[in-house]
Amino acid sequence: MIDLRSDTVTRPTEAMRAAMAAAEVGDDVYGEDPTVRALEERVAELFGHEAALWTPTGSLANVLAVAAVVAPGQEVLCEARAHIARAELGAHGAVSGLTMRTWSHPRGQVDLAALGELFAPDLGPYFVQTAALSVENTHNFAGGAVLPLADLQALRAFADERGVAVHLDGARIWNAHVATGTPLRDYGRVADVMAVCLSKGLGAPAGSLLLGSAERTAQARVRRKRLGAGMRQVGILAAAGLHALDHHVERLADDHAHARLLAEAVGADPAGVDTNIVAFDVADAPAYVARAREAGVLVGAVGARTIRLVTHLDVGRDDVELAAKVLAGLVVE
Ligand SMILES: Cc1ncc(COP(=O)(O)O)c(C=O)c1O
Repeated sequence: MIDLRSDTVTRPTEAMRAAMAAAEVGDDVYGEDPTVRALEERVAELFGHEAALWTPTGSLANVLAVAAVVAPGQEVLCEARAHIARAELGAHGAVSGLTMRTWSHPRGQVDLAALGELFAPDLGPYFVQTAALSVENTHNFAGGAVLPLADLQALRAFADERGVAVHLDGARIWNAHVATGTPLRDYGRVADVMAVCLSKGLGAPAGSLLLGSAERTAQARVRRKRLGAGMRQVGILAAAGLHALDHHVERLADDHAHARLLAEAVGADPAGVDTNIVAFDVADAPAYVARAREAGVLVGAVGARTIRLVTHLDVGRDDVELAAKVLAGLVVE
């Protein structure tokens, strides 16, 4: 089976497993795991943030990051298909007591005109107050679309004018960085709080980081423990993340080239493929998924008519060429 469902399906390489086995560890709830500390310091430095906090998942990093800037009863504004709105199972409301309103953009982009309409200043006891604006780069359900730096900077200025925070879901910020050459620090600069994942295209088995000020990350450390995610000798997982940063960032360019190849094969518009995700419409997505599976290729349905292909570390050039041939010839009645 060639698995193109997600870049989360990767398994750690032999070299990554060796790094994990050799990791120096300690009790991270006591703040004594040297490998976790090294990873947190390195990633904070990469994005120019004061501090970082390791979390087991990207969802938890997002929940803690948004809660660091939005109080219960306040709202965050985000794009309609943002992961925080669609795929975190209501955690921001259920756990953090905050609400969301959304704008829609076919490519998941910033829309300042829509934000201008949505934005709600503090009107006392009458309306929910907007406390933060959230963006996702790359945007998963918008087909791995990159948000241009200039748009993020304009969003930053919009937020500053109104005195609210910016949250960046950077689960795949590495893909945006490699696709555009934009320095990670430039992305870091536009966000007050952000989340980055090591377990998507970078191929670690688990691990994300929340980035922000020392004060906000310290508060998030307390909330992380409250939610039961204070972990102990987690340096074993942090070592996988450090290994991924050393070896798996630049190679994302291969995944992007592979995605373009697949897009051509399935007749998707190559202009819509910025990174490692190809989204395209078919008559019947579940039927397409089933036919592709019979032919040896696992693909995902992200809507009744939309198929998603994701390239990653565990599908090499040969696999991609084979999958392209299979999908190009797929007949779905
Ligand atoms: C954009 C985005 N943010 C956050 C997450 C959450 O990551 P996790 O699955 O580790 O909770 C994902 C997962 O696919 C994602 O695509």
